[in-house]
Amino acid sequence: MNTDRHIDIAPSILSADFSCLGEQIKAVERGGAGVLHVDVMDGHFVPNITVGLPVVKSLAKFTNLPLDAHLMITQPGVYAAQFVEAGAQMVSVHVEADPHLHRTAMSIKAAGAQAGVVLNPSTPVGAVEEALQFVDYVLVMSVNPGFGGQKFIPYTLDKVRRLAARKRERGLNFALEIDGGVTLGNVSELVKAGVDWVVAGSAIFGAGDPARTFVEMQHLAHAAGMVQV
Ligand code: DX5
Ligand code: ZN
Repeated sequence: MNTDRHIDIAPSILSADFSCLGEQIKAVERGGAGVLHVDVMDGHFVPNITVGLPVVKSLAKFTNLPLDAHLMITQPGVYAAQFVEAGAQMVSVHVEADPHLHRTAMSIKAAGAQAGVVLNPSTPVGAVEEALQFVDYVLVMSVNPGFGGQKFIPYTLDKVRRLAARKRERGLNFALEIDGGVTLGNVSELVKAGVDWVVAGSAIFGAGDPARTFVEMQHLAHAAGMVQV
């Protein structure tokens, strides 16, 4: 039995009501959230446009929660460190968007944040084989990025299992994050597969009571985390 795993649920503000974003963040803070997931989309890497540096800057002033910036943008290497300067404590970039992952990860770390690499559902695990040794976390997309409220793509769970196995085999320390289609119904299975950080947008902010739903999801995740992976 491994009781040392620390599982975090990261509410994604993409599904929050932006006209009262502050209140929505306070709600998940009340629920006990330990991190906030911020989706940055540029209309090029993904077919949607969301928020950028000014919003991250405002959020960093508004909340003490660490901000996990998920960059769904082209040329992430140009902007990654700027997101750290804006106040993000974790910054992840897509392997599909960056031919210079090592340089980008080093720029994120040098600026003082944790560096993550993200894989789209159809990107093979092997694409990050080298990066596993220098990133702080690997984010497995379980929907095609661009929108909240999509259905979980089942085969991505096997990618999580294979990454968890590589981590054990190589004795590495990166955290595993999953993003897309997470619900109260599948969160336990994800944690049992080896996920450390669970992103949830519509399941939390689409619920009548985001704070309560957060607590329920956290409870399920922690219970599942008591099982050895
Ligand atoms: C999708 C984003 C997700 C999104 C998840 O591209 O990266 O973070 O907010 O939303 P749900 O949890 O609704 O699938
Ligand atoms: Zn995301």
